[in-house]
Amino acid sequence: MSQPNEKKLAGEAALRYVEDGAIVGVGTGSTVAFFIDALASMKDRIKGAVSSSEQSTAQLKKHGIDVLDLNATGPLSIYIDGADECDPFRRLIKGGGAALTREKIVAAAAQKFVCIIDSSKRVDVLGKFPLPIEVIPMARSLVSREIVKLGGQPVWRDGVTTDNGNWIIDVHDWRIADPVALEQQLNQLAGVVTVGLFAQRPADVVLVGDKEI
Ligand code: A5P
Repeated sequence: MSQPNEKKLAGEAALRYVEDGAIVGVGTGSTVAFFIDALASMKDRIKGAVSSSEQSTAQLKKHGIDVLDLNATGPLSIYIDGADECDPFRRLIKGGGAALTREKIVAAAAQKFVCIIDSSKRVDVLGKFPLPIEVIPMARSLVSREIVKLGGQPVWRDGVTTDNGNWIIDVHDWRIADPVALEQQLNQLAGVVTVGLFAQRPADVVLVGDKEI
């Protein structure tokens, strides 16, 4: 079960990793919302933030934190984001909030990825949480058929359009024994924009509540 108090502790503890003068990569979700509220306390000591979603952008701006264009910033020193599942190797499933594409881009631009979660997100093997895949709308059925061939159960997240104008397929009933290989394989499918597996580039640090694991 989700632990809101641990999410708050994790969001606040992530401030330890933000250095003065940083441009901070900011993820999306309820745990990140606690981080953004905490970040407001040091807004005069950072250069600004690069946001992974319209939702986080609105919250950052509400606090008076400058939201910068990733094309103008160069590499980021730090990225802070939540996750839907985290295995013992800091590999993640993300995308429950449909922000996976921008999250993957900002994570890729950052030297350090600090993942903030509550204890309910920890698993031995990824896959109990349905794996989100962002697809170009016209490829939804094509990608779904390919996923069935690979042993997954695709379910269209009907009614959801991502910030990029695409659709989400959630893949159920997949025990993901080799997340790196599956991420590579799914990335090859025509019409796939982003796979919600963060295995090729796992988190560098995971905070469960205020404890680093
Ligand atoms: C957003 O698309 C997701 O990747 C979130 O990072 C993830 O769903 C974690 O969300 P919570 O912090 O709300 O649990």
